Amino acid sequence: MVRLSLVASLFAAVASAVTVEQIGNKKGTTRLPGAYIFEFEDDSDHTDFYSKTSADGKTRMEFDYKLFKGASIQFNDHERAEDLASKVLELPAVKGMWPVKVYGIPEPRIDWQGTPGQEYATMKKRSAYETVKDVFSPHVMTQVDKLREEGYTGKGVKVAVIDSGIDYKHSALGGCFGDGCLVTFGTDLVGDDYTGYNEANPDDDPMDCQGHGTHVAGIIAAQENSMDFTGAAPGVTLGAYRVFGCTGEAGNDILIAAFNKAYEDGADIISASIGGPSGWSEEAWAVTVSRIVEQGVPCTLAAGNSGDVGMFYASTAASGKSVTAVASFDNAETVSILNVSHYTVNNATTRYEFGSQAGTPDAWTGVKLPLWAPSYDTNVTDGGCDEYPANTPNLSGYIVLIRRGTCTFVEKATHAADAGAKYIMVYNDEAGIIPYDVSPVENIKAAAMVTPEQGKKWINLLKAGSKVVVEMSDGSDGKVTVEQVPNDLTGGALSTFTSWGPTWEMDSKPQFGAPGGGILSTYPRSLGSYAVLSGTSMATPLMAGIFALISEVRGTLEPELIESLLSASSNPQLFHDGFSYSEFLAPVPQQGAGLVQAHDAAHATILLCPSSLSFNDTDNFVESRNFTLKNTGKTDVEFEISHVPAGTAYTLVEDSIYPDSFPNEFASEGATIRFSESKVTISAGKSVTIEVLPTPPTGLQAERLPVWSGYVAINGTDGSSLSIPYLGLTGSLHGSTVLGSADAWVSQSTDEKLLPVAENTTFTLPKAGTVQDQEDINSTSTTFPTLVWFLALGSSNVHADVVPVKSNLTTGNYNVPSNGSVGQVADFPLMWSSMGQNSVSWAGELADGSYAPAGMYKIVYRALRIFGDEKKTSDWDKSESLTFGITYAK
Ligand SMILES: *[C@@H]1O[C@H](CO)[C@@H](O)[C@H](O)[C@H]1NC(C)=O
Ligand SMILES: *[C@@H]1O[C@H](CO)[C@@H](O)[C@H](O)[C@H]1NC(C)=O
Ligand SMILES: *[C@@H]1O[C@H](CO)[C@@H](O)[C@H](O)[C@H]1NC(C)=O
Ligand SMILES: *[C@@H]1O[C@H](CO)[C@@H](O)[C@H](O)[C@H]1NC(C)=O
Ligand SMILES: *[C@@H]1O[C@H](CO)[C@@H](O)[C@H](O)[C@H]1NC(C)=O
Ligand SMILES: *[C@@H]1O[C@H](CO)[C@@H](O)[C@H](O)[C@H]1NC(C)=O
Ligand SMILES: *[C@@H]1O[C@H](CO)[C@@H](O)[C@H](O)[C@H]1NC(C)=O
Ligand SMILES: *[C@@H]1O[C@H](CO)[C@@H](O)[C@H](O)[C@H]1NC(C)=O
Ligand SMILES: *[C@@H]1O[C@H](CO)[C@@H](O)[C@H](O)[C@H]1NC(C)=O
Repeated sequence: MVRLSLVASLFAAVASAVTVEQIGNKKGTTRLPGAYIFEFEDDSDHTDFYSKTSADGKTRMEFDYKLFKGASIQFNDHERAEDLASKVLELPAVKGMWPVKVYGIPEPRIDWQGTPGQEYATMKKRSAYETVKDVFSPHVMTQVDKLREEGYTGKGVKVAVIDSGIDYKHSALGGCFGDGCLVTFGTDLVGDDYTGYNEANPDDDPMDCQGHGTHVAGIIAAQENSMDFTGAAPGVTLGAYRVFGCTGEAGNDILIAAFNKAYEDGADIISASIGGPSGWSEEAWAVTVSRIVEQGVPCTLAAGNSGDVGMFYASTAASGKSVTAVASFDNAETVSILNVSHYTVNNATTRYEFGSQAGTPDAWTGVKLPLWAPSYDTNVTDGGCDEYPANTPNLSGYIVLIRRGTCTFVEKATHAADAGAKYIMVYNDEAGIIPYDVSPVENIKAAAMVTPEQGKKWINLLKAGSKVVVEMSDGSDGKVTVEQVPNDLTGGALSTFTSWGPTWEMDSKPQFGAPGGGILSTYPRSLGSYAVLSGTSMATPLMAGIFALISEVRGTLEPELIESLLSASSNPQLFHDGFSYSEFLAPVPQQGAGLVQAHDAAHATILLCPSSLSFNDTDNFVESRNFTLKNTGKTDVEFEISHVPAGTAYTLVEDSIYPDSFPNEFASEGATIRFSESKVTISAGKSVTIEVLPTPPTGLQAERLPVWSGYVAINGTDGSSLSIPYLGLTGSLHGSTVLGSADAWVSQSTDEKLLPVAENTTFTLPKAGTVQDQEDINSTSTTFPTLVWFLALGSSNVHADVVPVKSNLTTGNYNVPSNGSVGQVADFPLMWSSMGQNSVSWAGELADGSYAPAGMYKIVYRALRIFGDEKKTSDWDKSESLTFGITYAK
């Protein structure tokens, strides 16, 4: 019986669709053991606070900022920290408390990275000499090119970058730090060795040794450079606030300090491509960022790279109220950085340049040979797929030029090698260039690929009887060409990795997006000077640059205004699952308002406010919301108001309490919307308020929490075409299970898969008090019980009580309190948890610092439901582990 329920619990946890595993694999945000952030009441006396905390812990940081006064403390006894912290919270001078959490960089994908020590210079295209037009694809997609053509550069705007620092000595980033440089302000809050878990060693020098911050900085403000691109707003000055060491993560106390410092140093815009899953707007760092935005400083934050997890996975601090959460779209052009080689025709002295991508193997050093082709047909579909005819010359003195298609690269290479060839050059049969591997073919020493255009040019020369001699570069001269090739598969679509909203409280997230997939920018000199990276980390600084350009055009930095302008003019995109487009628009929780259009936003004369509308869930359904249309132009404009639904996406898997993962299942029903007026004329200088009354879609499975969304479309006779995103949820978030009754179990600290142990398994723990934290636990050879709990949805408050099981009280000396619990597991309760699997290895400590006596126990978890009332028992979901035993070594 009991065993059955054990198996059932495993089944529930592992077999509840793909979801559980996928979410379970996601690394959540980690807590710094025993550490808390306290916020002081304004003008309070902190003597009591410091006398109380200095005895039991160490002050990590003091916050003496206009918008945040307080301190972060790490208690010496991590296991008693929760108890000590809650006593500190009772002091009259203290008004708030949050655990210290550690956040990472949403890890970007590295698509290309230069070689350290290499000076790169692109082969200039002729067009680059003829015009100063900005042809950088992320800029063209967002109309940054048009603002740049008008001469805007973000001049005079101060943009703070909270990141891993900036390699300000990079020639494209100004070459220096301080007055008169591009990077004029900022500081290092942490030092090289900081990991997020150890002590920070601040200094004045925000030099980057990690890479991320330098890439981000270049997207905002790279100056003209040998790679032939610039940042979106090269006229700004940058502030570098370094919050990461050379590796590792950053504590939210460091992030709070960095944002406040940047704000007080006079930053006009603050950008951070940092985050961790939570989905709540109340976390300490998110609260800080919201306050800064409310003071008139726009903050752009990365939505996160966890799109695969599905809905309701907004990152902190992008999840904060008024914070601009930035989604990622794939670049319309795939960027390839190719090494430049040369060729001559008919012994002439002119050397022509071309770009190629080395394959495997790539022993091209010193190779200078004529081309030979098995076919002069540039349309041949199966070039080199047959054995070469008997009259073929010995090809050892040639580079064999073959068209891609039909058979494999290895087959093509084999036939060439059979005729004596050592080198092959494939020209593509479609746009772009890819690497390939022919290393199984023994005699081939090097392989490479060129574009279809280059291949055709050569074939036509050969066909005309010319001799083409190719002089291959091995890349060591640093001459490269940046090829932008149309990305026909996903160009312009939402990046599948971009994280989905909304928040657990139904705030609309993300706000809108920019290209973040396949972006060329600067990189530290020691890491190759340039790199192509992908992530919402790359979309976010582009958005900060766009805010700078718009503020220069309009002479204002008002965050709400700029956000509304961008939201109203963004282009919503169709849903794309990574393989193809659907016929419906991507849901608002994925793309917000869509892909921003900077020029339209900057020059708009019709102002539309707010930037999005949330109608909440069924329990809290908002029957109507208003928006305002203001005509700041010189002529009257007539508007037509209509509605375009986007895809309705189910949050949960059918017949399950667990969330679905990307791509979520869609329903075909959308909301219908009525407006107080569907046609309205607004005189110059006047504004009108319009009421939006939605009717949620019918026929949906409400228990699966479908999120419906779409756009209110507003077309004006002046040619304006604006929209405002909305969303709502059918069903009850409060009525949904956040913790399944079988989703808590006990595993062994030595089991990476965290499978449940059998009931009554007894663990012998080190002597009470000899183990301090998870690091100690990892470093001993003892097998600890690992407590595992799996949240189906987010919960703002999770308790874990240690409850004795009276069956074999052989050694225990029990004094069981009336609620049956000897105390909570150390570090509980947990605040603002994201969905997914969590675990902690347990050495027997309780939250008050005492140790659970030897004996048999179960862990009873309680998780507060969304919109739940802590005082109501029925608002908590409960799950119990099976019984296990602990004894202590002598
Ligand atoms: C190129 O030069 C070589 C040697 O100098 C000569 O044998 C060959 O005929 C020349 N080819 C052409 C096309 O002029
Ligand atoms: C190759 O195909 C293209 C497009 O189908 C056609 O326009 C062209 O004439 C063909 N070239 C040759 C050499 O057959
Ligand atoms: C360019 O050359 C470098 C060696 O300097 C090599 O590592 C790299 O793969 C080459 N890149 C391409 C696109 O062939
Ligand atoms: C939805 O309703 C809940 C409960 O009243 C509230 O806490 C939350 O802020 C609401 N969300 C929005 C976006 O209005
Ligand atoms: C929305 O606007 C209508 C008029 O169009 C007005 O009657 C109503 O009070 C407004 N509602 C809110 C919440 O402001
Ligand atoms: C509004 O304008 C957009 C873009 O020009 C167009 O696609 C849409 O059909 C228009 N809607 C109405 C109701 O005219
Ligand atoms: C665990 O121990 C209890 C009490 O001794 C016993 O009733 C139960 O059957 C045991 N379970 C297993 C799986 O042995
Ligand atoms: C302890 O080990 C687990 C599993 O190997 C790992 O996930 C965790 O990060 C480690 N914790 C610390 C504090 O080293
Ligand atoms: C509880 O009883 C079981 C079975 O008799 C035994 O294996 C286990 O060690 C006991 N646990 C403790 C903590 O004494």
